[in-house]
Amino acid sequence: MARHLITSAIPYINGIKHLGNLVGSQLPADLFARYQRGRGHEVLFLCATDEHGTPAELAAAKAGKPVADYCAEMHEVQAKIAEGFCLSFDHFGRSSSQQNQLLTQHFAGVLAERGLIREVSETQMYSPTDGRYLPDRYIEGTCPNCGFDSARGDQCDNCTKQLDPVDLINPHSTISGATDLEMRETKHLYLRQSAMKDELEAWIDGKTDWPVLTTSIAKKWLNDGDGLQDRGITRDLDWGVPVKKGDADWPGMEGKVFYVWFDAPIEYIACSQEWVDAGKGADWERWWRTDKGADDVTYTQFMGKDNVPFHTLSFPATILGSGEPWKLVDYIKSFNYLNYEGGQFSTSRGRGVFMDQALEVLPSDYWRWWLLSHAPESSDSEFTWENFQTSVNKDLADVLGNFVSRVTKFCRSKFGEVVPEGGSYGPAEEALIAEIDRRLAAYTAHMEAMEVRKSAQELRALWVAGNEYLQSAAPWAAFKEDPAQAAAIVRLSLNLIRLYAVISAPFIPDAADTLFDALKVEDRSWPTSAAEALAALPEGHAFTVPENLFRKITDEEREDWQTRFAGIRS
Ligand code: 2FM
Ligand code: ZN
Repeated sequence: MARHLITSAIPYINGIKHLGNLVGSQLPADLFARYQRGRGHEVLFLCATDEHGTPAELAAAKAGKPVADYCAEMHEVQAKIAEGFCLSFDHFGRSSSQQNQLLTQHFAGVLAERGLIREVSETQMYSPTDGRYLPDRYIEGTCPNCGFDSARGDQCDNCTKQLDPVDLINPHSTISGATDLEMRETKHLYLRQSAMKDELEAWIDGKTDWPVLTTSIAKKWLNDGDGLQDRGITRDLDWGVPVKKGDADWPGMEGKVFYVWFDAPIEYIACSQEWVDAGKGADWERWWRTDKGADDVTYTQFMGKDNVPFHTLSFPATILGSGEPWKLVDYIKSFNYLNYEGGQFSTSRGRGVFMDQALEVLPSDYWRWWLLSHAPESSDSEFTWENFQTSVNKDLADVLGNFVSRVTKFCRSKFGEVVPEGGSYGPAEEALIAEIDRRLAAYTAHMEAMEVRKSAQELRALWVAGNEYLQSAAPWAAFKEDPAQAAAIVRLSLNLIRLYAVISAPFIPDAADTLFDALKVEDRSWPTSAAEALAALPEGHAFTVPENLFRKITDEEREDWQTRFAGIRS
């Protein structure tokens, strides 16, 4: 039995995530976790909410709530929605936890001791009206390059020029509109990533099996311009992990907090401590400390491409820089973006379908299937309602749902709700078993390699193979001449349904549960050979006809949803 540590990028606390966020991290991570559990391996699957930073503070202010209360409430909201999508986290933690605070301060202390943190005095825009320093993107003004009047302090969206807030003409705070901005001197801590460039590069160079999307982004940051830059890891904010050196105060850093991107990935580790403290696990160190047994853990991270630099460089710099025996990631699976009906999904602009809305429209399996079978792996992909309708109706209703319904209902009407006896398998059955065997091996290999789309394609092909067999074997015709022959066909088909339940469970867990219940089977172990798997349900085994697995999406519904989700969510 192998041990798999799996983490999904932790979603920001402010607001409910859209389907593009879901398919870029949590959902494929869940697919992999379910697959590895299905194979009988030991899995620790972790996710959390990413609760610090200016956006969280502003969202809380907008909601008129203290930020800690806001985060606690939004954590519950996100946890409920995650459950709705059957995301099987072993623990869904919080980056604002006490465990993460202590661990973040610990890392900072150790990095400082090892000379990997330097203090820098710099000037930053301060807004007396807002009573805070303004992060660059919260300052807007006229672009000195093109004259666009809503250029942000970090970049002009019109001409794409990278900017510094001091470059802007007539700058103002986007929080309050205040124009009385001033530059103030402030001190910050920088992680000396530049000192670790060679070590990081050698580590990445060793990862020859990683997706090109992952390594190309890492390489770009390692070698762009002057090479890997040091990173500011503190901010002048109230909400966050207070800057400390382990448990000691950090002179000159009073009232400051760590930058959200410094503490967020540390939450992956802290989350496992939360998992233990919540009484769900006994020992977190055997997952994370290579001196405590984590050497034989395989650690896989899932994330969207915008998160790659932090996971390939910044977080490893923290881990490696500590000189302590922490487990480093073994494989980073990254994703491109999912677009929405000819444009981008956008949280800030409320464009697209959000996770809570999706579940109001249809159960999670419909979404899971579409999203995973269209995962933006090799390039960006696009959600359209038409494509969604077609995939659901064809793959889920016509192929899988129809097969299950025809086989179980036919069996009930001719043989009763038991696996029928008699007859024997001929060339058609042998051919089907051979095809299933071949496809099963391909499917398993794709799942193993985290090739999400290829896995979905192969799974669909497995469903199609059953359907085509049923269509040509035609037990309803055979029954008239040779009932024993019809019994053999139905027996093999019922066994196929059980096999489908096992191998489809990572994609569509609710449907799989319905099938397991209907077939009254407990054993969900991953098949090693088709011949064996298709003999699991013996003659005489009782079952019940399941409810309709999937319904079709009508044209009216599709049009209705198209209109309903065309606008902007407020
Ligand atoms: O992009 C995001 O949604 C970030 N909240 C991801 C953080 S992942 C990690 F660092 F914890
Ligand atoms: Zn411009």
